[in-house]
Amino acid sequence: MAAGLRFDGRVVLVTGAGGGLGRAYALAFAERGASVVVNDLGGDFKGYGKSSSAADKVVNEIRAKGGKAVPNYDSVEDGEKLVKTALEAFGRIDIVINNAGILRDRSFVRISDEDWDIIHRIHLRGSFLVTRAAWDHMKNQKFGRIIMTSSAAGIYGNFGQANYSAAKLGLLGLSNTIAIEGRKYNIHCNTIAPTAGSRLTQTVMPQDLVDAFKPEYVAPLVVWLCHESCAENGSLFEVGAGWIGKLRWERSLGAIVRGKNQPMTPEAVRDNWEKVCDFDNASKPRSIQESITVLNDALSQIESQGNVSMNSTSSGSVVSSSVDTASIVGRELGTNVYKYTHLEPILYALGVGMSTKDPDHLKFLFEGSEEFCCLPSFGVIPAQTSMFDGVPSIPGLNIDLAKMLHGEQYLELYKPLPTSGELTSVSTVADVLDKGSGAVLLIDVNTYCGKDLVCYNQFSLFFVGAGGFGGKRTSEKAKVPGNPPKRPPDAVISDVTTADQAALYRLSGDWNPLHVDPSFAALGGFKKPILHGLCSFGFAARNVLKQFANNDVNRFKAIKVRFAKPVYPGQTLQTEMWKEGNRIHFQTKVKETGEVAIAGGYVDIVPALDKPSARDPLKTAGLQSDLVFEEIGRRVKAIGNELVKKVNAIFQWDITKDGKTAMQWTIDLKNGSGAVYQGPARGSADTTFTLSDEDFMDVVLQKINPQKAFFSGKLKVKGNIMLSQKLEMILKDYAKL
Ligand code: NAI
Repeated sequence: MAAGLRFDGRVVLVTGAGGGLGRAYALAFAERGASVVVNDLGGDFKGYGKSSSAADKVVNEIRAKGGKAVPNYDSVEDGEKLVKTALEAFGRIDIVINNAGILRDRSFVRISDEDWDIIHRIHLRGSFLVTRAAWDHMKNQKFGRIIMTSSAAGIYGNFGQANYSAAKLGLLGLSNTIAIEGRKYNIHCNTIAPTAGSRLTQTVMPQDLVDAFKPEYVAPLVVWLCHESCAENGSLFEVGAGWIGKLRWERSLGAIVRGKNQPMTPEAVRDNWEKVCDFDNASKPRSIQESITVLNDALSQIESQGNVSMNSTSSGSVVSSSVDTASIVGRELGTNVYKYTHLEPILYALGVGMSTKDPDHLKFLFEGSEEFCCLPSFGVIPAQTSMFDGVPSIPGLNIDLAKMLHGEQYLELYKPLPTSGELTSVSTVADVLDKGSGAVLLIDVNTYCGKDLVCYNQFSLFFVGAGGFGGKRTSEKAKVPGNPPKRPPDAVISDVTTADQAALYRLSGDWNPLHVDPSFAALGGFKKPILHGLCSFGFAARNVLKQFANNDVNRFKAIKVRFAKPVYPGQTLQTEMWKEGNRIHFQTKVKETGEVAIAGGYVDIVPALDKPSARDPLKTAGLQSDLVFEEIGRRVKAIGNELVKKVNAIFQWDITKDGKTAMQWTIDLKNGSGAVYQGPARGSADTTFTLSDEDFMDVVLQKINPQKAFFSGKLKVKGNIMLSQKLEMILKDYAKL
């Protein structure tokens, strides 16, 4: 008696067990303690005649070895009777091996109705009837194991076996559904496609192969699949000669062949044929849900397309042959308005791991906080909405969003982001690069609040497999990542992301199912949904902001990252930082694996303002207007000569907080090449403005115009009031003063 996998107390029904494979199964189960019903009609291999001798012989063999077995001589078409034999002899039925079979081989046109029908009746209908008779017993006892016997002829086709092939692959369909329906009752159903020497194969195989392919080299797979400890369900195996392999479906990434509001044409199908049939990066759908996901995705891609060019090139390259890149570069993709309240910045801050557990996070999480402000990295949010709307509709480009990877990101801020309001983003194609293995699309997005430029983003999008169109490899417009110094990092901050990090982050507007739907992630080849690259980016950005700018959003100038590896929600992000002057280099590693997820990152920070001097005792840190003056300072440095010629005046600003002067600034556009500095004018000012920090920002953000501020008493002007108009004219791109 064999030890190991035992079947004591189990009752097994093997159909067609009077010879060949069925006999081997019956003997193997009996040897391992099972009670076996040996069913066989006892006819010839074409299904003619009947006899009890085949079943009896095997029953006697089993009994002679001390095993338990009873014969059954009915046809599988009498399924109920077979199961009745099991119940009467042993009181239960646990395992059904649908194995009985015959052949009626003929070339297709010669198949008679009878030959078609009998093959289906014995193989397909017989397996259905026997299994159905056993089903409720298995369901009630919450245990059942079923095997369907298919054939390579069904899987691949075989000359002269059209009837048999059809029935055999029909069994796989039957098994696939039974596996789903039985799962919750612990009823498993698997299918095998065996190869073994038997009287069925004797007619087509040479004798030495018939002898070599022993049924005993198939039976152990069937025994294992039917053991209570085997979890396999709904699978298909090829087996023979001591080898076993599992089969699954593979599906090409396919192609969308119609555009929004456009008819689908056979010509578009023809033109995309190579892509439809291209198995590179193919997916392996395992369920009807996974199968359908791609259709839903296609629908939403089509909906978001606008008027996509369907002129795909056969090479799959991103640039259509009829269009040269020069005509794409510089093209405006569209304008998008992003309206938001304080909810969005707060949701975003939570999405990148901020928590009320950290007291200094409160100003990003509570709209009632005195210092309530937006994380600088929130600047990607309005921009990405505009970009995603625009990219698929670039005429002349064959965009396959399914093959798109977010390669790099650059964000530069010119003002702190408003905590609510309306931002308008305009996206443009900055360049198209040919990287060989793929194409890179550089998209520039300028985001405005009213007419003021608030921030600039550059998205670097990589399209796998879309290169090779003969374009240039690099671009002077690309913002390049930095290289961290070789020394150990100056600071390291670890953040454990939560299992729901991506589910939370996506609410900020990145709805790609890759980050939440396991079946969609599987299509992309990921073991589970991955975190958004821009989420890890947000973690890193806020860590640098805290570590090197004391969480002062005014000091966050720019950030660049390259997305190197995916991160899974729940993993720990480790941000390593190096300070080199005003540039903070960083990289983000996945702590659990040591892999670098964000490479070549840097943040440029604005140096802290000089400490308040003795003559300026009321100065409180971080007036909002400071940032604006600093920006004007940079502008004056760049084009001061020109401004001095045009303006020839000195302006002094007294900025108040709570009714008292908190800061003084001077814009000198009279002397040398101009200057902007803190404190009163050195010499005398032509015009002096006095207003509160808040009102100053309202004027800058155009919530109130300067005339109104003046007449309502918010803005006080001393000296030459007419000169202020010159100032307004010169600086209008930066601040409406
Ligand atoms: P086999 O002819 O030795 O065994 C089949 C058995 O089924 C016979 O003993 C026969 O009397 C019995 N049978 C036929 N009609 C019946 C009915 N209506 N009710 C009850 N019993 C009936 O052939 P083999 O090779 O052992 O085949 C077993 C199964 O494996 C078959 O379903 C066959 O199609 C399948 N298969 C076999 C391959 C091989 O290489 N041997 C290849 C692919 C599939």
